[in-house]
Amino acid sequence: MATQKRFYLTTPIYYVNDKPHIGHIYTTVVADVIARFHRLKGEEVFFATGTDENSQKNVQAAEKQGEKDIQAYVDRMSTRWRQTFHTLGFTNTDFIRTTEERHKKGVEKFFKAVLEKGDIYTGTYEGWYCTGCEAFVTDSDLTEGKCPIHKTIPEKIKEKNYFFKLTKYRELLLAHIEQHPEFIQPNARRNEIIRYIQDFMTDVSISRQSLKWGIPLPTDPSQVLYVWFDALLNYLTIIGYGTDEARFAKYWPADLHLVGKDIIKFHCALWPAMLMSAGVALPKRVFAHGYFTINGEKMSKSLGNVIDPEELANRYGIDAIRYHLLREIKFGEDGDFSVTRLQERYENDLANELGNLLHRVLAMTEKYCVGKIPSGTPTSFEQEWRSYEDNMEALNFFSILDGIWEIIRKANQSINEEKPWVLAKEQSNRLSGVLYQLLEKVYLVSWMLLPLMPETAKKIWTQLGLNPVTEEQKLITRLPQLPSEGTTVAKGEPLFPKLI
Ligand code: MSP
Repeated sequence: MATQKRFYLTTPIYYVNDKPHIGHIYTTVVADVIARFHRLKGEEVFFATGTDENSQKNVQAAEKQGEKDIQAYVDRMSTRWRQTFHTLGFTNTDFIRTTEERHKKGVEKFFKAVLEKGDIYTGTYEGWYCTGCEAFVTDSDLTEGKCPIHKTIPEKIKEKNYFFKLTKYRELLLAHIEQHPEFIQPNARRNEIIRYIQDFMTDVSISRQSLKWGIPLPTDPSQVLYVWFDALLNYLTIIGYGTDEARFAKYWPADLHLVGKDIIKFHCALWPAMLMSAGVALPKRVFAHGYFTINGEKMSKSLGNVIDPEELANRYGIDAIRYHLLREIKFGEDGDFSVTRLQERYENDLANELGNLLHRVLAMTEKYCVGKIPSGTPTSFEQEWRSYEDNMEALNFFSILDGIWEIIRKANQSINEEKPWVLAKEQSNRLSGVLYQLLEKVYLVSWMLLPLMPETAKKIWTQLGLNPVTEEQKLITRLPQLPSEGTTVAKGEPLFPKLI
């Protein structure tokens, strides 16, 4: 028996210095779409996410709240993140916390491998540190002395640290990127990383002497590990590195790391070099997406424009948010998140175009075909499905949704042109064929929407008289065909009810 294909994908792990906002949800929505798509193809998917807990940002947030017990704070916050992900219906396979024992074990093992390779040495770090970025920064990273992302003056530190010989891997990294064009995407990011590795990359401190919160260095417990060195390892420890080697071997290397563009240096330079040093294979692909602003401004607590995804989901439903996030900007580019635009899309694309199509087609099936799927000649949607799959592989969600809405618009248009109510009056024998083709299109749309808007796809199936559970089990290597003549449809509640 052929072994089932596996697909391992990850999101970054999130700092718990605050609750999730729509930017974090964006990365996770995309990961969820990809995970669902690969499951649909019958692959065994491992979808990893979690929380980055050994950060100084978390310590500061706890202190701000007057919480002295940092562990209690991160416990509370991590639970909150996990709950939000659950409420929003994300289908992650596991959720890792970097304060967990399984993570610490893996980190220890990895650190020893790098040490044994001779890639760690002691030295003194003297320079800037931006806690917002959790990064050692140089003057060239700053704008007028401030971090361009956090608009804060970084901390000046001087401490004895352990360093990782990152520069030793310069040529190997460049060669890998050259030989694997798919390793860093999109292309603009790849060029950015090549320039960084060639011209700016230096050895990096991987410990902090002055901090108390974090994973103690296995060889010198007076220091804690630099949080990025520990955090990146979550991608290994969640699948068993250091605790369950068979499981680890089953899933590694990762097929895809999804990251925001702000954290690609860590993922495309430091991370692969760490792996080379420890003798672990490199992930296959890192995709960096763009940033969402809110009505043109950066999302930040001080501006008071942070959008709470749960509140939004309560009003519009999670599928509308998924739709809007994926439709508003091309994946990889920056864009604006405007609630006004979301509302417009809800009313127009979702309620008027998709919702109405389903409603009209089912109302006519009830009226003219006693509520049963009529007879008709099945259409081959091979080509549409192939281009859908290609776009999914390329993470081209914008084009996918564009394509689906093209089908929806054309179907609505064909109702206006064919006028089934006239065909019915004339008792034309074309009526059942016309309705059959419309039902087929709705069915095609439901399958295409399944990874993107899963609740909507299932609601469509129910109204088509199908069982969503058995339907979803039809793992598809090719698109299923509309069920045969005679299935009773069941027009139900509007897919996207009027907002009050
Ligand atoms: N903890 C690190 C990641 C460690 S991974 C080994 C971190 N965490 S984060 O919580 O600050 O950000 C996590 C992800 O959310 C990043 O990919 C980041 O780009 C993304 N986003 C945060 N704000 C965002 C927007 N406004 N828009 C889009 N993505 C955003 O970095």
